[in-house]
Amino acid sequence: MNDYQYDNQTVKGFVVSSVFWGVVGIVIGLLISIQMWRPEFNFAPFFTFGRLRTVHTNSLAFGLGVGAIFGLSYYILMRLTKRPLLFPKLARIQLYLFNIGIAAAAVTLFMGMTQSLEYAELEWPLDIAIVILWVMFAVNVFGTIIKRKEEQMYISLWYIIATVIAVAVLYIINNLSIPVGPFKSYHLFAGVNSANVEWWYGHNAVGFVFTTPILAMFYYFLPKSTGIPIFSHRLSIISFWSLVFAYLWTGAHHLVYTPLPDWIQTLGIVFTIFLIAPSWGSVVNGYYTVGSDWDKMNTQYLTKFFIMGITFYGLQTVQGPTQGLRVVSQLIHYTDWVPGHVHMGTMGWVTMTTAASIYYVIPKIYHTEIYSIKVANIHFWLVLIGQLIFSITMWITGIQQGALWKAVNDDGSLKYSFVETLTKNYPFWQLRTVGGLIFTVGMLFFIYNIYMTIRRGSLAEAKA
Ligand code: HEM
Ligand code: HEM
Repeated sequence: MNDYQYDNQTVKGFVVSSVFWGVVGIVIGLLISIQMWRPEFNFAPFFTFGRLRTVHTNSLAFGLGVGAIFGLSYYILMRLTKRPLLFPKLARIQLYLFNIGIAAAAVTLFMGMTQSLEYAELEWPLDIAIVILWVMFAVNVFGTIIKRKEEQMYISLWYIIATVIAVAVLYIINNLSIPVGPFKSYHLFAGVNSANVEWWYGHNAVGFVFTTPILAMFYYFLPKSTGIPIFSHRLSIISFWSLVFAYLWTGAHHLVYTPLPDWIQTLGIVFTIFLIAPSWGSVVNGYYTVGSDWDKMNTQYLTKFFIMGITFYGLQTVQGPTQGLRVVSQLIHYTDWVPGHVHMGTMGWVTMTTAASIYYVIPKIYHTEIYSIKVANIHFWLVLIGQLIFSITMWITGIQQGALWKAVNDDGSLKYSFVETLTKNYPFWQLRTVGGLIFTVGMLFFIYNIYMTIRRGSLAEAKA
């Protein structure tokens, strides 16, 4: 089968777009991290923290994340089904619509148009465009799988299928709203029901944007890049089914100690604890796969990325269930501990695994070698150090914040005013910016390496 049939152009398009939106999001992340300790960096009205924060989360979750999911899922899909995409032209249209959609999302968020639902901020006309985009993706994924030439369905395909179905259901239900104008709508659900549906969606956005598609990449590219088959297919299947079953019931752990009925909170917490098992099923599978040749951690740069990525996933999936417990939630909820948790997952697990997958894919589709393993190693250490500084400082400041808020005098009055507790965060917020800066420099090395690899591949192609 030749490359044209594999439709590498669309894969390239999505990968490059994903990296582009990733840069936008990360630079804005840096800016908002500065705004938290230098308020004069809030340039009203477009460049204030409130607006930029949503541009940061949206361009990273939907631009970097979903862009990579589209491109890399198509890459994996074609190889595992041993056939080209069923509708390559549709995939190309999807690529253009995707970029128009993310650009429109950024512009409307800059303008302050929002549904005020976290990770579902986009107003209803954009929601409709996103549903159309997702249907295009679903049609190609299911069509290609149905017409596959390889009977066996490797685990990555199951994770892609789960992503397609779950995101569709979650996105549509949580975005049901009543439009009152072209750019304004109200959530169909009210009060505590609205919060319940929103966090059912919000937690599963983590589950089906930042977990299942990333696991699809991990299970495909780890064996490919190491040359070692996955340790246990049975374990991968058991982990998959238990993960998708448990994830959907856990959203209420975001609403502990709220007016949400107690039994729903408890149900959410029980499933949250259970989630450790399927998550660690994949962690163990990854470790045992490379366990037959640990030397690869020294000799093969991609192994390092994948194993560190799954390690952060492992840590994240112990920390997450712990946070869901009432006794822990009452200390860390609403504090900076949560962004610490978030960025270990996003900068550690998601970005490392996605970058490693792109390092694998780009040389393959450009018929060349990676430009520089040395640069890839520098990238690795910088993003690792940057992420650790970010997460650790946020955990410390989060515990401090929680403790200060709860401190009371003998007469029961609060020991510290809110502003007093806030100013104590400043040194940690400054350190976070340092961590973010190191991470950003690491990502610039990554982009340089990818750019040079593409250039080398294109030059060789032009000469041939
Ligand atoms: C240079 C790197 C980064 C910096 C400096 C940065 C900075 C920030 C800041 C300052 C916030 C707001 C925290 C708050 O409201 O208290 C935030 C939130 C967030 N960021 Fe980042 N970020 C970076 C990278 C990333 C990446 C790579 C992703 C995803 C792939 C990401 C996803 C998110 C998410 C989901 C939130 C919302 C967290 C929450 O509500 O608790 N960030 N980021
Ligand atoms: C077993 C798996 C996991 C569980 C049980 C879990 C649990 C939790 C809990 C309980 C919170 C709420 C903390 C609070 O506000 O009090 C939370 C927040 C969050 N987690 Fe996790 N987590 C898990 C894995 C992950 C992973 C893998 C990622 C991403 C890579 C992630 C990203 C987030 C984000 C973005 C938030 C912030 C939501 C917000 O308030 O805006 N989590 N998680």
